[in-house]
Amino acid sequence: MPSPTVPSLAVPSPAVPSPAVPSPAVVDLRAGRRRDGVPWTDSPAPVLSWRTETAAPSWDQASASVAVTWLDRGGARESVELAGPDSVCVPWPFAPLRSRERVEVEVATTGTDGVVSAAARIGVEAPLLDGGDWTASWVSLPDAPEDAPGQLRTRFSAAAAPVRARLYVTALGSYEVELNGVRVGDEVLAPGWTSYRDRVLVQTHDVTDLVRPGTNVLGAWLAGAWFTERYGFFGRATRAYAGPAALLAQLELTHADGTRQVVATGPGWEGSIAGPLRSSGIYAGEEFDATRHDPAWSTASGAADGWAPAAVGDLDPAVLSPAGAEPVRRVLEVAPVAVTTSPSGATVVDFGQVLVGRVRIRVRGPRGHTVTLRHAEVLEDGELATRQLRYAWSVDRYTLAGGEQETWEPRSTFHGFRYLQVDDWPGALDPADVTAVVCSSDTRRTGSFTSSSPVLDRLHENVVWSTRGNFLSIPTDCPQRDERLGWTGDLQVFSGAAATLVDCDAFLASWLTDLALEQRRNGGVVPIIVPTAMAEDSEGVVAAWGDAATVVPWTLYERFGDRDLLARQYPSMRAWVEVELAQADDDGLWTRGYQLGDWLDPRAPADRPREGRTHPSLVASAYLFRSLDLVARTAGVLGHGEDAARYAGLAERTRRSFTDTYVTPRGRMVSEGPTTYAMALVFGLVRDPDLRAALGRRLAGIVREDGYRIGTGFVGTPLVMDALCAAGQTHAAGRLLLQTEAPSWLYPVTVGATTVWERWDALLPDGSVNPHEMTSFNHYAFGAVVDWLHRGLAGLAPAAPAYRRIRVAPTVLDGLTSARSELLTPYGPASAGWVLDGGRVTVTAVVPPGATAEVVLPDGSTDDVGSGEHSWTVPWSPQRPEPVLAGLDTDLADLVDDPEALTLVREVLATHDPGRARAFDGGLRYEAGSTLRTALLFADPAALDAVGEALTGLVRERSGMAR
Ligand code: BGC
Repeated sequence: MPSPTVPSLAVPSPAVPSPAVPSPAVVDLRAGRRRDGVPWTDSPAPVLSWRTETAAPSWDQASASVAVTWLDRGGARESVELAGPDSVCVPWPFAPLRSRERVEVEVATTGTDGVVSAAARIGVEAPLLDGGDWTASWVSLPDAPEDAPGQLRTRFSAAAAPVRARLYVTALGSYEVELNGVRVGDEVLAPGWTSYRDRVLVQTHDVTDLVRPGTNVLGAWLAGAWFTERYGFFGRATRAYAGPAALLAQLELTHADGTRQVVATGPGWEGSIAGPLRSSGIYAGEEFDATRHDPAWSTASGAADGWAPAAVGDLDPAVLSPAGAEPVRRVLEVAPVAVTTSPSGATVVDFGQVLVGRVRIRVRGPRGHTVTLRHAEVLEDGELATRQLRYAWSVDRYTLAGGEQETWEPRSTFHGFRYLQVDDWPGALDPADVTAVVCSSDTRRTGSFTSSSPVLDRLHENVVWSTRGNFLSIPTDCPQRDERLGWTGDLQVFSGAAATLVDCDAFLASWLTDLALEQRRNGGVVPIIVPTAMAEDSEGVVAAWGDAATVVPWTLYERFGDRDLLARQYPSMRAWVEVELAQADDDGLWTRGYQLGDWLDPRAPADRPREGRTHPSLVASAYLFRSLDLVARTAGVLGHGEDAARYAGLAERTRRSFTDTYVTPRGRMVSEGPTTYAMALVFGLVRDPDLRAALGRRLAGIVREDGYRIGTGFVGTPLVMDALCAAGQTHAAGRLLLQTEAPSWLYPVTVGATTVWERWDALLPDGSVNPHEMTSFNHYAFGAVVDWLHRGLAGLAPAAPAYRRIRVAPTVLDGLTSARSELLTPYGPASAGWVLDGGRVTVTAVVPPGATAEVVLPDGSTDDVGSGEHSWTVPWSPQRPEPVLAGLDTDLADLVDDPEALTLVREVLATHDPGRARAFDGGLRYEAGSTLRTALLFADPAALDAVGEALTGLVRERSGMAR
């Protein structure tokens, strides 16, 4: 039952107050969206954000004084007073920065109480902003296959140590730079994956301390990574991009006399494929032969053997774009929890956690000896289960140089794994010799959740792990098999959860830029995968997947207050709804084309995940409404009045047609799946309160008929808890959330899952791996429910962009006695939660400075508060319906509401009539009114008697207890 204890990703709890600061003080000042503390901006006019820490209650910002010191313009200082409360994504209030320009930005705030805060200061430096800044050309490995990995280098001489040295660098592929034998930066798989045809990200590094007078050597490891990978299904994979892997680097030295020396890739560079990096692939893994390694290769004493002039290619600087998001880094190390020998005799290391990254080994052995590392997320019959990896071999090989102890970690690949099979290890493996290095886009963790249920808490933690694992340069579907692709639908349904768990504004803003570029290439149609990787991913107009174009920018606006991004994405949002409208009929319903529907509805056939209970045209039409509604609202925010009216009108047309066509006047829907009802309730398709209540009752009825097991796929899963609670059906909501039988959110946790699975039954209840090859153990979509744990259960939801206004409205669920959310919002640490104590519930909340909260307590009473700590206690009585148990004539729907009786029936049937017992396994699909006796028609009479007796016993026992 309990899942293994694993280290939580190394992140401090966000709501822990930072060390004593003079109150008030500006903190967390940043220019642009990145949160990793580097000075590099991606824009000449980066947005500014800051927050004020203060213990003063109900604090609000009256004004901010923002100053810039132009370090490259003689230190001139300029300042502006910005009246009002804005402190999140504030437009740059000065002249735009020039290429390479360095400034210092300082912000102090004045509260409405008149008290001036301590100021915060940061350095900001502009990247190369103009194509004309570049003198570098692409360089590739000489006489090499296009996807061969290798090394590139050049020698240069510096007359003196520079006062400043900046390296601007990128690759078509992945690179790691060394300068005079020292690794530059700490990025993994840089520059990451973007729509390479249109956009390649440039990284900036301060290398002032690494350049020395005299001879210097600048070198780079180069691998094809995502650029040369082959993508496609069923063994028909092809490359997505043409041409060889290539490096682009421009090192600029500024000398004391103000002169600039530039060392750039181009003629004069040499390359080698004779070195240790023998082969490399994102899917295949990496082979490194240390016998071929010249440790001095990137220094002046590097050997010359095997090197030849690099191939030089033309640069179109229009594709270059400064990196504006946190890069992939090594974010955590995990030690083995066990080393065992498999039935076949293999050495298997268990890291206790499904994670993403690679393994660092420490090894000593004979020269030329090769160690092989194989990776898998699960074991099957005690052996590594690799079938689900399909064509992603995920094998790393290291050939020892011999002699001293050697340390190695692959540099141009990553794997999704928990288990490592180590073949041909010289001698006995000491667990300390293998370390899992977790790699992820280095976004800051912002959300944590705790409750009275350790299983629910572990679900939350599993979702955090799946977020880390699938936020690796781009948001992916899964990190292990031969996909690891930017499926738009997966992120669309998960974006709210992601924005709760991590500070992903910069990360997703970068991906949305690629989405818009790919969309533009594709005539407005948003591909189902971004960056596109194969011809087929741009073909269909697919609801819920393409709607990432509208939902994700809106979510980032809602959670991070990123109006700037909303404005930037607006053309993409608009182009997407126009494409959708072209699919719609005259009534504004979208009923045609290939759809993925409510993907992976557990009731869909295992090999046809599109064929769930909700008809695809309902998903398409509901999403058409959703996107039109979001574009109308966005147009309103951005002041495009005409668009706002037009799209609101079109949304209303679709809404009416949807309800006229699919909703009956008494509150039933065609296509009776929970997802259908959830969309109608949560997207606002149905507004009439009576009709909403009726739909809510029916939704609860369906959930109950399903035996409180999950009945939703990608589309419905993020919505169903909101839908039930919005309709007041909290009893059903609680049973659904806390269900531990498959399929459910908690079932995987109870059988030891440490991440979120792609399928509700990736591991079948008998412990075997789901035989379908599309079975990943690290797919975040179904984890989208954690957003509701924060917003709905603990009750901490944004009521205005960036949580400037918070809605504290917790939901007390039967089966739990407490729940609490802590979030680092753009205004500062916030929290909300509740604790049940007998007949009273105490709600607490922390509202950050500059924010206010509207409060709705579990008894319906309301409050309105400013920043500070708050607490309320109100009476509470449970909502649980009294069990109505009447032996064999119990209504089946009542039996479902009586877990104790249901378990008893199952147990008795299992011993007396196992065949019948199975009928109770997949959920009780009977309408209210049918009884246990009818469900057991034709059962073995002895079994019927035994069940009847057992229930009568239970009834008696209960009435005895009642007395
Ligand atoms: C991916 C998904 C994706 C789906 C859609 C799968 O192979 O892993 O998560 O959204 O295909 O077709």
